[in-house]
Amino acid sequence: MKAAIFKAYGSPEVMEISEVDKPSIKDEDRVLIRVVSASVNQYDNLFRKGYFPTRIENGLTKPKTQILGIDVAGTVEAIGENVTKFKVGDSVFGSCVGSHAEYVCPRQSFISLMPNNSTFEEAAAMPCAAQTALQALRDVGKVKAGDKVLIYGASGGVGHFAIQLALHFGAEVTAVCSTSNIEWVKNLGAHHVIDYTQEDFVHNGKKYDVILDAVGKRTFFSCLRSLTEKGVYITEHPLYPKYHPIQLMIGSIISSKKAKIHLAKPNDSDLVLLGELMEQEKLRPVIEKCFPLNEIVEAHRHIESGRTKGKVVLKIE
Ligand SMILES: NC(=O)c1ccc[n+]([C@@H]2O[C@H](COP(=O)([O-])OP(=O)(O)OC[C@H]3O[C@@H](n4cnc5c(N)ncnc54)[C@H](OP(=O)(O)O)[C@@H]3O)[C@@H](O)[C@H]2O)c1
Repeated sequence: MKAAIFKAYGSPEVMEISEVDKPSIKDEDRVLIRVVSASVNQYDNLFRKGYFPTRIENGLTKPKTQILGIDVAGTVEAIGENVTKFKVGDSVFGSCVGSHAEYVCPRQSFISLMPNNSTFEEAAAMPCAAQTALQALRDVGKVKAGDKVLIYGASGGVGHFAIQLALHFGAEVTAVCSTSNIEWVKNLGAHHVIDYTQEDFVHNGKKYDVILDAVGKRTFFSCLRSLTEKGVYITEHPLYPKYHPIQLMIGSIISSKKAKIHLAKPNDSDLVLLGELMEQEKLRPVIEKCFPLNEIVEAHRHIESGRTKGKVVLKIE
């Protein structure tokens, strides 16, 4: 099968299209999916660059796993003996390492049936970013109706889902983005929008129950004065590179406010919920760009720019 692979860590140009072995169902609870679409995440960018902590998992000097991609949408082509939830021909979406390829073989517990009003591209845009936003707001921030929630990095993959999900939980949402994204973010439903090039929200005197730093650009200390007495600061950066977790610990000890580093946990029940919200038209992925698989280098360049509006997806079929 055809796949986007990388044999060395580096810039987007290390990505190439190659013929590799098609995966097969070895475990009985796995599903073989013919991939129609897959999204490109900052995760792919970090692994391709060989950011040091990723090398511990994927090889110190060169990548052990050469196919990137963690989100998938496609059609079930075969099922293992113990698979009960899916049949051949079903349209499914979910999480699977190696999705920048024509086939993947995930466990059934990481996928779900596609929402009936979704394209393959939209479904592929959801798993990682939408589950991240959902778990951060619901499980870590425990957002409830009436809470004041600020989303920093609101125009990105995680951020644009977070706006919609915080609204679904009944929160009053403040979104922070740059000038060119203000109207777009307002259209997603945010009650208030702050242009970070004009104003730093930490100086405006307002307080929030939850601050979700969806792009890992702020520190807990800088946000302390903007949190309510029991407010929670959540950062999404998986590796939290600039600011040591000790800062989070000290901050939590010296004040009643909490700081949490959130790592998304892929699972099928959240996929089901996200699918239902999409069917109820409460959630809609926005796809900024769709690249064919053979333009994988351009797709990586786009993600690396850090300016993505919504999501970037690959069309693989
Ligand atoms: N913890 C987890 O499990 C998990 C899961 C998924 C993602 N993540 C992490 O979460 C982060 C965000 O992911 P993502 O997919 O949302 O990224 P993304 O889509 O690439 O984010 C792009 C957005 O970031 C905004 N941005 C860039 N610099 C900014 C700044 N200085 N201040 C405010 N906004 C800024 C940009 O908006 P403007 O152009 O308006 O500046 C752009 O819309 C990444 O670090 C990723 O690795 C973590």
